This record gives sequence, C-alpha cells and structure tokens, in this order.
Amino acid sequence: MNQDELKQQVGREAVKYIRPGMVVGLGTGSTVHCLVEVLGEHIKNGDLTDIVCVTTSNRTTRQAESLGIKVEEIDDVDHIDLTIDGADEISDDFQGIKGGGGALLWEKIVSNYSDHVMWIVDESKLVHHLGAFPLPVEVTPYGSQHLFTKLARRGYNPTWRMLPDNSDKFRTHQRNFIIDLHLEEINDPFALHKELIGMVGLIEDGLFLNQVNDVLVGTQDGAKLLHARQ
Ligand code: A5P
Repeated sequence: MNQDELKQQVGREAVKYIRPGMVVGLGTGSTVHCLVEVLGEHIKNGDLTDIVCVTTSNRTTRQAESLGIKVEEIDDVDHIDLTIDGADEISDDFQGIKGGGGALLWEKIVSNYSDHVMWIVDESKLVHHLGAFPLPVEVTPYGSQHLFTKLARRGYNPTWRMLPDNSDKFRTHQRNFIIDLHLEEINDPFALHKELIGMVGLIEDGLFLNQVNDVLVGTQDGAKLLHARQ
C-alpha cells in the first residue's frame, strides 16, 4: 500500500470510534479528509445518527457540509466528545508536531477542549525524536519581522510560510503569519514550548504535548491502535 492508501485505511478505521449522538472534532489535512469522506457515507446511510461536528479549518467545514455532516461553531457546543486529527510527527513518547497545513491554532484549541483525542497517521509519521519536520509557529503580523530576527538569532533557522505560488506570506484563518523553524532535532520539547510561548507576538506553536490519548497508525499489516495516555 502506498501512503495515500494507508491514509484511507486509517480514515476508514477511525470512523468506528464515532458513536451516535457524539460531538466530534474534525481535524485538518489529507488523512482527516479520508475520515470525513467515510463519516459522510455513514451519516448518509443512517448508520451514524445525531452527529454534530466542530472543525479546525474552513477546508474541513466545506468538505463536511458538502457531505451533509452537521457542523457547529465551537462555542455553540458545550463539549466535544472525541476529536480526530492528523499529525506531522509523533515521537516515541507520543508528543507531536502539527500545523503542516497551517491550522495549528484552531487544532490546538479544539484538542484542548476535547474529552478524548485521537490522531490518525500513516506509519511514516512515527519518529524517535521530534524536529525533522519544521516546527510551525503562528505569529501576529504586527512586529513579526522582529520576532523572526529573534528566532534566527537563537539559531532556530526560521522561514516564512508562503502561499503555494510564493506570491505572498501565508495567512491563517486568524489572518496571522506562520514561521517554520527548521530545527532538525528537538531535545526538550517542553522547554522549547515554554520558551516559544513566552515570546511576545508568538500566538501558538505546533508542539502538541501530552495532548493525544490514542494514535491510529496505518501500516502494511493493517491499522494499529497505540494507546498514549488516559
Ligand atoms: C494541519 O495543520 C496539520 O496539523 C495536519 O493535521 C497535519 O499536517 C497532517 O496532515 P496530513 O494528514 O495531510 O499528513
């Protein structure tokens, strides 16, 4: 199976954890895209009823609504039972980097207000140590060049996240910029998160620490569920 087939495999498998009546957080990215497709089929067939979703991006909202999935604003639901999202890297101790698709802020908010969090990934996302994947940080545009310079001086090899055609800087849903930090290896993700989040103008970073309960991994031998924490 190639990477796309592994993503489809976990997308199909993940829908089995959604029960009728749940409020479900839907992440962002190509793996979640597969899950939403399957969820839409189950809702259409009537296998899953009374599902309400909140999403982490307008992209996911558009896809879900096009399939007849009910989407509410996050502040219009009083809880989220289960959030299923992708990830860019997951370390041996189940810490993660997310935000490759630029949705890290909404993803972290939805994750934090969820009773249970599941990440769905193909096996290429499992690593021993975080850091080979560039770590995104979301920054407020005002003064962001100074913040960029500060990050460069600290040796974090920052680059601006650009639009695909390189014509301008990428903007998040909150109209913020993203700076990607090319770190190669992160020795202490907790210390790095504390340092980054303390910088004025830096709104959120893509380190998702102690966030995930279960990881569903697509492998050549079928989808495997790894339990991270209660
Ligand atoms: C979106 O901002 C990211 O956090 C995604 O969850 C992550 O990039 C995984 O995406 P894929 O499923 O496309 O690999």
